[in-house]
Amino acid sequence: MKKDFIDTSDFTKAELLDIIDLSLAIKKAIKSGYHPPLLQGMTLGMIFQQSSTRTRVSFETAMQQLGGHAQYLGPGMIQLGGHETIEDTGKVLSQLVDIVMARVIEHDSAVRLARAATIPVINGMSDYNHPTQEIGDLCTIVENLPRGKKLEDCKVVFVGDATQVCASLAMITTKLGMHFAHYGPKGHQLAESPSAACLPVIEENCRASGATFEYGDRRDLVKGADFIYTDVWYGLYESETPKEERVKTFHEYQVNRELMQLGNIGCKFMHCLPATRGEDVTDEVADSDASLCWDEAGNRLTAMRGILVYLTRDRVLPTDLQLAAAKEELDCFLAARMIR
Ligand code: CP
Repeated sequence: MKKDFIDTSDFTKAELLDIIDLSLAIKKAIKSGYHPPLLQGMTLGMIFQQSSTRTRVSFETAMQQLGGHAQYLGPGMIQLGGHETIEDTGKVLSQLVDIVMARVIEHDSAVRLARAATIPVINGMSDYNHPTQEIGDLCTIVENLPRGKKLEDCKVVFVGDATQVCASLAMITTKLGMHFAHYGPKGHQLAESPSAACLPVIEENCRASGATFEYGDRRDLVKGADFIYTDVWYGLYESETPKEERVKTFHEYQVNRELMQLGNIGCKFMHCLPATRGEDVTDEVADSDASLCWDEAGNRLTAMRGILVYLTRDRVLPTDLQLAAAKEELDCFLAARMIR
């Protein structure tokens, strides 16, 4: 049965750790110069209803590095949502490509696309969550664990607006048994966001894994952080919100040197990017030795390779004998028609 990647909550802790391990193993091989042809001959259709730098470039590079190919289907470039329903688009793309990824405006579009398609569908971000971001983030955290700590010992604090990245980070960290806190202003906490449906998921994760989840506008939530994470204020696609209003609401939640000092010694800074420098984070922190945001951007590629390979791992490749028989049959046909 085909498997989609719409929400990390659709995967067990063991499965998520498998995807992270796989991503890091492929990263190591490629770093050593070996490009495993794990997606040989495969095509990824990339639907984008919104703009993207990291998600688009990392998916396309991942396909190319592993022997496949990607097609960019940008905003307004295909019939989706206009002349053609999401369901019909899913059925058609299932005949034309091997995997689909979709960055959508409404989460339900990704769910409907996956339901209609007969091939794996990957959510490249919706208004609810950003699951591929989180595989990359966890790869980054695994590579930068504080000395002597394992994942379950770490505290991750998300600061600022409860964006879909905040929701996704809360879901994956609590699934993995980590300690998560959101420090953000009233009106911009998860319960008040388009991702509010993640709250019961997080609570269940905590019961099952021993994780903890706290939120609020108390600055002491940041204390004991091993990783401080932030995102843009008012979400990436509400950037029309006037700067004055953004700053009025969030100025106390800027990640600056003073806020970083509330974390543990050696605390690292993370950001999904793009950042609004001088608002959600200062240059001093983004460009400091504590900043992992560039590693995170690189690990989008690490994650995409792992997710793509994980979702296609059951594909049955023809044997050498079957390939030889198919070649002979076609060669005979072409020779009979005098086509060389
Ligand atoms: N972090 C992230 O998803 O970046 P893009 O919007 O550039 O893909």
